[in-house]
Amino acid sequence: MPATTFTLETMRSRLAAIGQEQVLAFADSLDAEKLDHLLGQLAALDLDAIPELVAAYVTTKPEPHLPADIQPAPYYPSNPTAEFRPWDADHFRAVGEGLLRAGKVACFTVAGGQGTRLGFDGPKGCYPAGAVTGRPLFQFFAEAIAKTGEKYGKTPPWYIMTSPLNHDATVAYLAKHDHFGLDPEAVMLFPQGVMPSFDMQTGKMLLAEPHALATNPDGHGGSLRALKVSGALADMQARSIEYLSYFQVDNPIVRVADPVFLGLHAAAPDSSGEMSSKMLAKVAPEEKLGMFCVADGTLQIIEYSDLPMDLQRERLADGRLRFLAGSPAIHLLSVAFLDKLNSDPKFALPYHRAEKKVACVDPATGERIVPGVPNAVKLERFVFDAMPLAARSIVYEANRTDEFAPIKNAEGTDSPQTSRDIQTRRAAGWLEAAGVAVPRGGDGEPDCTIELSPRTAVDSRDIDGATVGPIAPKAEVVV
Ligand code: UTP
Repeated sequence: MPATTFTLETMRSRLAAIGQEQVLAFADSLDAEKLDHLLGQLAALDLDAIPELVAAYVTTKPEPHLPADIQPAPYYPSNPTAEFRPWDADHFRAVGEGLLRAGKVACFTVAGGQGTRLGFDGPKGCYPAGAVTGRPLFQFFAEAIAKTGEKYGKTPPWYIMTSPLNHDATVAYLAKHDHFGLDPEAVMLFPQGVMPSFDMQTGKMLLAEPHALATNPDGHGGSLRALKVSGALADMQARSIEYLSYFQVDNPIVRVADPVFLGLHAAAPDSSGEMSSKMLAKVAPEEKLGMFCVADGTLQIIEYSDLPMDLQRERLADGRLRFLAGSPAIHLLSVAFLDKLNSDPKFALPYHRAEKKVACVDPATGERIVPGVPNAVKLERFVFDAMPLAARSIVYEANRTDEFAPIKNAEGTDSPQTSRDIQTRRAAGWLEAAGVAVPRGGDGEPDCTIELSPRTAVDSRDIDGATVGPIAPKAEVVV
């Protein structure tokens, strides 16, 4: 019997034992290469775990487990005042700058998502985000990393997590653009793991093609394992990196390797230096950001959709939201923490269920199905579920206009247009603070469009106003 036939029969009986043999419906008619592909996909899965996952997350909808006592999380305010949690930002900046100068910091972009809401054809990091030139997202990050190197004398290495679905395209894109000027030896791309997508009604694994399972990346939380499996963690250890600045691919103005945040993470008395987070003051209770809370004595993020709305609407006497701290998914992780998590054979973040539309092939008829409504369950892990695993985790308030212009949707909130508007608003504020005249309309908004290169400034203090002339009304300028 040829090896493939033997493997096929073994796989068939393993799948029969877990009620998933439908994925081999077309196996007998596949050529050797396609059969290999399918068997390879199946061999990479933890098949024994699937019945339990299906029962827990797919055929039943898990109820969110809400802790009994949920309190707002404490945080370090971006503008420390005597009245509200004063802290010495200059001290922590100096600590963070010391770590950057010592080359202890790397950057980490999670770019394995599918970006379905934006609907861009290609890896999301290639999206033209710049307000004037359409500078791509990856270029924003590369330039911010280069600027950090220029300021502190050591360029942080850059780790990028892709998925098997966009890895090759991302590698080719960065190579074509010469890694936007970074040393290719210090840019490491690795794909994350995938999970099979399941039929929402039956819990059966779906086929995307007769020879291919329908799969989805296993969530940004999959990064914690993928860092280890890919060798990225070992690479960091070899480079004596101690801290990882974690950010998403969708925010062009994210403050990479922020020295104040680094200083707090490494040296604040209530931080164990394992995992820290930035927060944004929510503008309205309905803003869809996960909320930093303290529950069961532990700092954690409770999803927007899980936290009761009456709690999210509560206000303090001065009118501020009591639950104010929303998550923009910006973290610091220590290499030692990542190593510790991965050294525990039982380490596994929980799964979250998402109902999605997944095109598939009917195993009974071979017919292609393009669903109009969600037909599938995808299982993903979320990075913030690692926070409670840190001994003491802290939260630091980011400045909204300075650091958060995400591109999630094609239109409306968190879209390319809102991102461009925020980019201009931030650049205008920074330029004015440096003495540059910026035209403003009657509504106080800039009457121009400005794209600020991170090579010029990653911090308002980097701008040399003397080198920038006044900006004309309606002008489109790149600084
Ligand atoms: P999102 O939650 O915005 O998901 O990811 P997404 O898949 O990119 O977009 P939609 O929901 O399909 O529109 C937040 C960040 O986490 C990364 C994304 O690339 C983005 O930077 N991510 C998400 C991963 O790296 N892997 C995943 O499996 C999921």
